[in-house]
Amino acid sequence: MKTIEVRASSTYNVLIGSGLLDALGEQIKKVCNAAKAAVISDSNVFPIYGDTVTQSLRSAGFDVVHFVFPAGEESKNGHTFLEIINFLAENHLTRTDCLIALGGGVVGDVTGFAAAVYLRGIAYIQVPTTLLAAVDSSVGGKTAIDLPAGKNLCGAFYQPRLVLCDIDTLDTLPVDIFRDGCAEVIKYGILYDNQLFSTLEHSGLQFDREAVISRCVELKRDVVAEDEFDTGSRMKLNLGHTVGHGVEACSEFQISHGKAVAIGTAIVSRAALASGLCDNETRDRILSILEQFELPTTCSYSPEVLMDWALSDKKRAGDTVNLIIPRSIGHCDIVPSPVANLLSFIKAGLSYGHHHPPQKAFR
Ligand code: NAD
Ligand code: GLY
Repeated sequence: MKTIEVRASSTYNVLIGSGLLDALGEQIKKVCNAAKAAVISDSNVFPIYGDTVTQSLRSAGFDVVHFVFPAGEESKNGHTFLEIINFLAENHLTRTDCLIALGGGVVGDVTGFAAAVYLRGIAYIQVPTTLLAAVDSSVGGKTAIDLPAGKNLCGAFYQPRLVLCDIDTLDTLPVDIFRDGCAEVIKYGILYDNQLFSTLEHSGLQFDREAVISRCVELKRDVVAEDEFDTGSRMKLNLGHTVGHGVEACSEFQISHGKAVAIGTAIVSRAALASGLCDNETRDRILSILEQFELPTTCSYSPEVLMDWALSDKKRAGDTVNLIIPRSIGHCDIVPSPVANLLSFIKAGLSYGHHHPPQKAFR
């Protein structure tokens, strides 16, 4: 097992390893003295792992209740959020009790947000069961729900008390959803770690899960320690997200977050080349690795529509949008760009460029 300590407004551990779920109750007892634990999960994950988690919690002496909502991004909304809050109140959870987010990023984000506001803050534990949640959403305390106007527009920074990542849970993840997480893993390579990127180029999907997840969490730990509240360097973690969130929203969430991030990253890399901000090799390696992982690199939405969504992105500041630009593999910059230039940037990103074979449109 690997233990990574995250130092933010509170300090907590991320435990990564095989067979950890059975010890969840014991691990939680070390970090909080709750009497009652509310397990929040979705309709795919709870039937697989609910019993193991409940048994582990009960053996450790917790009184356990659970709330399960329909799986999918469509559930990451105000309705589910209020259902969870009401469930907690009806079950008399007190401020010293805890919530357990058992699932992927959707469960983690909405549970974290409920934990942030229920009784003005209650402890929560992240138990990520997707690769994406393991390497990204479970760490760092960003919690959110989506609004009709856009992704993650309502949320809070609220750090978990513990993150327990049992890599065995990834064994039941459909490969297509595993690929979504790979988009975020690739993102860390492009942002910070040429060696991680090369490892992925060589391994494809068959990478060492404990080692790669641990590396990504170490990278995220460093970012969160430096800029917990996302006013500076943490914005880099949104590589591909400004356009990606637009793709996700345009598709009415039929294109998953991971695939939308892949499309957004591909668009930014083409546009960066077209704007003279990166070289051919950087763009080509990014497009090639996304294709190698069978992630999409383009979409059929118009640049105008994508720009509209990009303008409601949280990284917009007045007439400026902070774009995350890959300069080379392992190095990206935050480039403030006038909103007026965004349309031509996205247009350049949607065109294929002449050094790379066009890929079939994803949708
Ligand atoms: P998800 O939570 O919807 O999970 C994807 C699917 O996999 C769901 O159908 C789920 O039920 C299923 N599933 C989960 N674990 C499983 C398992 N072990 N076995 C079988 N099926 C399983 O999606 P996701 O990709 O994990 O997360 C995407 C969400 O994360 C988005 O809403 C995104 O905005 C958010 N996100 C948040 C942050 C953050 O910092 N808070 C970072 C990145 C992404
Ligand atoms: N995934 C973006 C962040 O945690 O900042």
